[in-house]
Amino acid sequence: MSRLFLAPVRSLKLSPVLSLGRKAFSSASVRLQTVEPKETKETKETKTTHFGFRDVAENEKESLVHNVFANVAGSYDIMNDAMSMGIHRIWKDEFIRNMAPGPGTKLLDVAGDIALRFLDFCKNIHRDSTASVTMVDINPHMLEEGKKRFQKTQYAHTNQANFLVQNAENLEAIPDASVDVYTIAFGIRNCTHVDRVVKEAYRVLKPGGRFMCLEFSKVDNPVIGKFYDIYSFDIIPTLGQVIANDRDSYQYLVESIRQFYSQDEFAKIIRDAGFSTVGKGYENLTFGVAAIHSGFKM
Ligand SMILES: C[S@@+](CC[C@H](N)C(=O)[O-])C[C@H]1O[C@@H](n2cnc3c(N)ncnc32)[C@H](O)[C@@H]1O
Repeated sequence: MSRLFLAPVRSLKLSPVLSLGRKAFSSASVRLQTVEPKETKETKETKTTHFGFRDVAENEKESLVHNVFANVAGSYDIMNDAMSMGIHRIWKDEFIRNMAPGPGTKLLDVAGDIALRFLDFCKNIHRDSTASVTMVDINPHMLEEGKKRFQKTQYAHTNQANFLVQNAENLEAIPDASVDVYTIAFGIRNCTHVDRVVKEAYRVLKPGGRFMCLEFSKVDNPVIGKFYDIYSFDIIPTLGQVIANDRDSYQYLVESIRQFYSQDEFAKIIRDAGFSTVGKGYENLTFGVAAIHSGFKM
């Protein structure tokens, strides 16, 4: 089912070194490029993966992504809202309605921004104060911003929320079969090994537990797709330039979105990790600009 919302954008500031590489792309050449979704490929010398439209050594991507989010952490929320016109909030609200958590649910929220909505849902719908959430992120700066946000809420001095620096590909502090729901929103496309992330989710979920992912995806309507391409490759970087004086970060954003899997490819990765899916395993939002993927550990 498609929903008519606008496309969200967010600002990702690149380090000066990365910015130099980014200048090589013109918006026209970017638009003509056909991108086969791929996670890694092996050359004679080293395994490579993508960072936007650039190929980088696989062991380099994590620190490149880390630099991006370390740079934007302080202004991330404001830019997210300003550039998406708030649409990411509507998608996340839909995500929580789809999850419909029950009282006492234990959530693991990877890469943040689902936790607060989750606790509010449990409080408002069930009058429940026993639901709990662990928020993890690989980047301490982003996690710190999440903590600051929680300090201003009714959950600040409760045991309902805690924070851990963890890599989604190796959640070493999270025991096997210990959580009811695992969420990751707009985080997984930044990870080097998407399949490892999903397998880790499977490991930490209890039997009957649910994996849910909100991520940018592929637009399913060719006419809307044309407008989306223009919006993505011409307007978003220009907005980045005008509003944040940061064209390169927005260029990275649209490139990383185009590099991510199609809905069906990602649903297969989820099933390959052992999850059972209902129907196709996903729900499109805004003609597929974003999608909610879901799988159950049976
Ligand atoms: C685009 S932000 C998403 C933030 C938030 N979920 C939202 O919807 O606005 C991506 C987040 O993923 C985190 N991230 C990237 N790679 C990660 C990894 N391997 N493990 C855990 N978090 C990761 C980044 O540090 C960053 O905080």
